Amino acid sequence: MKKILITGALGQIGTELITYMRDESLLEAGPFELLDVVDGARVAEVCKKHGINQIIHLAAILSANAEKNPQLAYDINMNGTYNVLEVAREQGIAVFTPSSIAAFGASTPADNTPQDTIQRPSTMYGVTKVAGELLCDYYYKRYGVDTRGVRFPGIISHGALPGGGTTDYAVHIYYEALKQKKYESYIGAGTYMDMMYMHDALKSIHDLMEANPDKLVHRNAFNVTAMSFDPEMLAAEIRKHIPEFQLTYNVDPVRQAIANSWPNSLDDSAAREEWGWNPDYDLSSMTKDMLEKLAVKLNINK
Ligand code: SER
Repeated sequence: MKKILITGALGQIGTELITYMRDESLLEAGPFELLDVVDGARVAEVCKKHGINQIIHLAAILSANAEKNPQLAYDINMNGTYNVLEVAREQGIAVFTPSSIAAFGASTPADNTPQDTIQRPSTMYGVTKVAGELLCDYYYKRYGVDTRGVRFPGIISHGALPGGGTTDYAVHIYYEALKQKKYESYIGAGTYMDMMYMHDALKSIHDLMEANPDKLVHRNAFNVTAMSFDPEMLAAEIRKHIPEFQLTYNVDPVRQAIANSWPNSLDDSAAREEWGWNPDYDLSSMTKDMLEKLAVKLNINK
């Protein structure tokens, strides 16, 4: 039986991944442990105690928050990943940990960004994600630890809110569209970034961890995307459901600079070829579902 430890379990992805994985293993409830990933001995203890054979390591400080406290981001993102890999090596555990579009920088080709290309990010978050990719590959090659990962784009969901990323505007806009019929964006018009609906993010984690290892040429980490849009495109899609919706701008220079350094659109053909990646939602189907689910959550009649 699979015994999975999910770090960052209370975050945007973790809260939904738990339900998804528990359905999958037909467990109705599972154990919860308070765990600081910076404490390597405790990571080892929790894995031993529960007989863990797979770690999905999500705990991290996201891009915008990392720029507010780069030292903390380094500690959690780097040492957390290192501790997870060391415990995985010692206890024979498989590891999934996400990288990000943040693993690219201004010198990376911005359109149709290839799987294997220049990675010189300018944010602390990006630095830790590139280092994490390299460490994961190192543990696979040197120690045979089954490490796998994807480069997530902005993840859009109606459950727990994202915690301090650059792409968060694309979640907040739906809440404000329903609540206020207007939104002031901190990301400027014409700024394209890759995005994905939570359903597809969960599917990508599951499908990559289930993939036949013989087919994997890459491991850490695969470009994955479902759509690329700028705030204007997103607003136009929302207006199909809420015609009065108004989008204004108050650009935040820090997050705008981060967004400018990231790709406009990823080439995810390696993921498609090596493990059958294929997202279910595009901008139109995601927007319809987001507004329906959020209207229920917020108790708002559109
Ligand atoms: N959504 C993340 C962020 O904006 C990207 O990995 O930080």
